[in-house]
Amino acid sequence: MTRSVNPYPVGLDLEGRRVVVIGGGSVAQRRVPVLLESGAAVHLVSPDITPTLQGLVDAGRLRWEAREYHTGDLDGAWYVVAATKNSLVNARVAAEAEQNRTFCVRADAVNSGSATTPAVIRRDEMVVAVLTGDRARTVEARDIVAKALTDAGVQAPGVDEQLRGTVALVGGGPGADDLLTVRGRRLLSSADVVVVDRLAPQRPLSELRSDVEIIDAAKIPYGRSMAQEAINQVLVDRALAGKFVVRLKGGDSFLYGRGYEEAQACAEAGVPCTVVPGVSSALSVPALAGIPVTNRGMTHEVTIVSGHLPPGHPGSLVQWDALARLRGTIVVLMGVKNTPKIAEALINGGRAADTPAAVIADGSLEDEVSYRCTLGNLAETISTHDVRPPAIVVVGDVAGLSQATVAGKP
Ligand SMILES: C[S@@+](CC[C@H](N)C(=O)[O-])C[C@H]1O[C@@H](n2cnc3c(N)ncnc32)[C@H](O)[C@@H]1O
Repeated sequence: MTRSVNPYPVGLDLEGRRVVVIGGGSVAQRRVPVLLESGAAVHLVSPDITPTLQGLVDAGRLRWEAREYHTGDLDGAWYVVAATKNSLVNARVAAEAEQNRTFCVRADAVNSGSATTPAVIRRDEMVVAVLTGDRARTVEARDIVAKALTDAGVQAPGVDEQLRGTVALVGGGPGADDLLTVRGRRLLSSADVVVVDRLAPQRPLSELRSDVEIIDAAKIPYGRSMAQEAINQVLVDRALAGKFVVRLKGGDSFLYGRGYEEAQACAEAGVPCTVVPGVSSALSVPALAGIPVTNRGMTHEVTIVSGHLPPGHPGSLVQWDALARLRGTIVVLMGVKNTPKIAEALINGGRAADTPAAVIADGSLEDEVSYRCTLGNLAETISTHDVRPPAIVVVGDVAGLSQATVAGKP
């Protein structure tokens, strides 16, 4: 039943239609969620299935019969996937589908079924399907097309219209441009206005259209009002003028990012505001330095704390003595200047001075540096090496683990 490779591309409407999948291994695991997303009524036949498929069965998303394939299983099917590890069984499934005049994909021999699964790129409502007749070349071609679409900032039609008059709070990650999320980058490429922070990744800004207004949040003139209020006002004003505004920040907007205040200002002004979570420096910067903030059998909790006010400061909301009594990891942001007082408070509160510690500055950027030390000599380490913000301090046994990852960008 081998056919010539000249497929006719088509989009199937599978909503509520019976699709039979024979086999419950890794191929079925990849195909079934996509079929379910298309609304198909999936009926899976296989003696056993992967834990992921089991999860979908348990959630009532599909019907599973735990047995071998029998002739007759394809009755009433609109579409069939033959995905067992046994090519004889797949061939029998394909033969029955042929007899039933039902299109069938064969996972083991792509050109021997009556249909081929394309490699797919999704951009909102737009689906780009790629077929070449050879699985490896298809995937390669899909990746080339996907990159070209991303580089050219290609969007699904109509997306820009929906964004007009709205604000997106985009977490930019710790600074490296490729640690900005795919969603964040996509929205950035649609922005009319970008209000950007110093710690946000800067390179993606150079890829924006030349008519995009880029506003440096640090330079917004704010006169007698608060700087944050001035930023909120810019976001709201530009959105009310019909622009799509991206507020690009370092890390995650909701972790010491004042993102909620901006979202609230938008809500009060009737401006729709969405949030795109970012890769927070609190977890990613230690990770890049090879420090896991938790480790099985060692540390079951991690506390992220702001060190912008020293212990004992009347405005501080942190109970440093309580923190000192916890056994887990403490990650301090914005604490470089106050490290001597923070270390002292933790030691006075009961943390051993020989607790491992680390300080990492400019995480993910070219100038990234990290130093391992102890809580007792943390302040000295920072001053000896003249560590400057942005930097993160990690206190806890995890900082003493030996380096198991290779530093630098893969
Ligand atoms: C105002 S907070 C913003 C945190 C941000 N919203 C996040 O989720 O990463 C700024 C602090 O984050 C930390 N930080 C941000 N980017 C960093 C980086 N690339 N390397 C080290 N620390 C960083 C520093 O402690 C810095 O003082």
